[in-house]
Amino acid sequence: MVLTKKQWILIGSVASVLVVAIVVGVTVGVVVGRKKPEQQTIEPPTTEQTTTEQTTTEQTTIEQRVHAILAEHPLIDGHNDWAWAIRRDFRNNITNVDLYDMTKYHVNNSTPFQTDINRLRKGQVGGQFWSIYTRCTHQGKDATVSFMEQIDLMNRLIAKEPDVFQMATTADEVRQAFQAKKIASLFGIESGQAIESTFSALRLFYQLGVRYMTLTHNCNTPWADQHMVDRPGSTLVKNNGLTEFGKKIIIEMNRLGMLVDLAHVSKKTMLDVLSVSKSPIIFSHSSAYALCNQTRNVQDDVLRLVKDNRGIVMVAFTPIFITCDSNYLGNISGVAAHINHVRNVAGIDSVGLGGDYDGIDETPVGLEDVSTYPKLIEYLISQGNWTDNDIIKLIGGNLLRVMEENEKNARELQETMQPLEDMIPLEDLRKYNFTECRYLDMYPSTTTT
Ligand SMILES: *[C@@H]1O[C@H](CO)[C@@H](O)[C@H](O)[C@H]1NC(C)=O
Ligand SMILES: *[C@@H]1O[C@H](CO)[C@@H](O)[C@H](O)[C@H]1NC(C)=O
Ligand SMILES: *[C@@H]1O[C@H](CO)[C@@H](O)[C@H](O)[C@H]1NC(C)=O
Ligand SMILES: *[C@@H]1O[C@H](CO)[C@@H](O)[C@H](O)[C@H]1NC(C)=O
Ligand SMILES: *[C@@H]1O[C@H](CO)[C@@H](O)[C@H](O)[C@H]1NC(C)=O
Ligand SMILES: *[C@@H]1O[C@H](CO)[C@@H](O)[C@H](O)[C@H]1NC(C)=O
Repeated sequence: MVLTKKQWILIGSVASVLVVAIVVGVTVGVVVGRKKPEQQTIEPPTTEQTTTEQTTTEQTTIEQRVHAILAEHPLIDGHNDWAWAIRRDFRNNITNVDLYDMTKYHVNNSTPFQTDINRLRKGQVGGQFWSIYTRCTHQGKDATVSFMEQIDLMNRLIAKEPDVFQMATTADEVRQAFQAKKIASLFGIESGQAIESTFSALRLFYQLGVRYMTLTHNCNTPWADQHMVDRPGSTLVKNNGLTEFGKKIIIEMNRLGMLVDLAHVSKKTMLDVLSVSKSPIIFSHSSAYALCNQTRNVQDDVLRLVKDNRGIVMVAFTPIFITCDSNYLGNISGVAAHINHVRNVAGIDSVGLGGDYDGIDETPVGLEDVSTYPKLIEYLISQGNWTDNDIIKLIGGNLLRVMEENEKNARELQETMQPLEDMIPLEDLRKYNFTECRYLDMYPSTTTT
């Protein structure tokens, strides 16, 4: 719900009364502390107030405003690797894992967990695209099975905490879960190796609830190039963007209503997808190349195409994408600068948040874990050029709109288009030696029986 003008006037009058009351309080002798010389620090009328923790009324107002926005509109992050971290540290055995407080786990000195239920609640997270991820080394072997293990893990986790999580596969289901005060739980597979180059697996992942597929991780698939091919001197280029089969995968994803995620792909792959896709695409966790020339980030000409495509770039907090300096983690202002840049180039309808928590070893200062989203929103509002409506778009409104457009296009395509039945050309698999672990009965010329 958006506050109407009348409601704002009401809130304004209540606030003025409070301010007057506080000023009166000050004049009758309440001791006032000052954090910074330029800030007028006034003690709010609360019994819990300690003298060391004084906030300005302005800060309190922004904090309350952000709290109110997040209570009414779901903040939906585009990418979180909690499932991966649980695989890494607990081999997917969650029987005795305390999902509420995972700060205490330091299995083999791995990166401390950035996600748990207490911190999701503190961060007022309304929805999450849980990344379903396993390493590239599974490709050509047991990739599909390993992705199924991660979907099964998330299914068990959601079932274990039904008061906290609720599965969602459409924009409407996200809203229903949010209304029920559950964290809407969406699945995205990272990445294309999950389907081992067959439409059958793609369609079955859709049936398992998967609503986006990142086309590649840090490895090519036999039908799409990854971002590292764009590094100076790289010899990794194999497909020059999307292959013809790759283009068919995009069309089939459009037909299904599965979002195409361009995080991790090469620039040529981005351009190929943007010219083929009939539906808005996403970048589930990428930042602005103009501010940090990492190949994982999005260049300005691509940002403009994303705007035309009505897609969305969900800004990642990954320090190296923000600062391009391995000795400097960056902070909230650094991430905000990327968000502002994407907004300025791609437009307010094409920007979102994709923190990449539990997929990163380090975080910017002030954004240590999933509890910190409100601090980022407070910072943006404090800049003075983000209205409540802008914030609502950024935190989830844009993503829900992209999902709805994908859902609508899928319904329309399904009226005229049949499921695709093509097979990837054998030579495309051979190029990557991905024939060894396959029995090639579907390629008759290669078998005698
Ligand atoms: C932690 O390290 C020990 C010793 O190398 C190994 O046996 C164990 O499997 C590791 N546990 C996990 C979850 O990686
Ligand atoms: C799962 O982990 C718990 C300890 O956290 C252990 O007691 C239990 O045996 C494990 N289950 C399996 C099947 O390994
Ligand atoms: C980014 O810029 C730096 C400094 O100009 C340059 O050395 C580096 O090669 C660039 N990286 C890419 C991926 O273009
Ligand atoms: C972030 O770091 C920059 C550069 O050190 C600094 O100027 C800025 O004040 C910091 N922002 C916050 C919110 O701490
Ligand atoms: C909002 O204002 C800040 C501070 O002046 C600026 O850095 C930022 O780029 C602006 N944001 C947009 C979207 O223009
Ligand atoms: C494929 O396997 C063959 C034989 O094992 C090897 O010589 C070749 O280098 C491999 N090619 C690739 C792309 O891995």
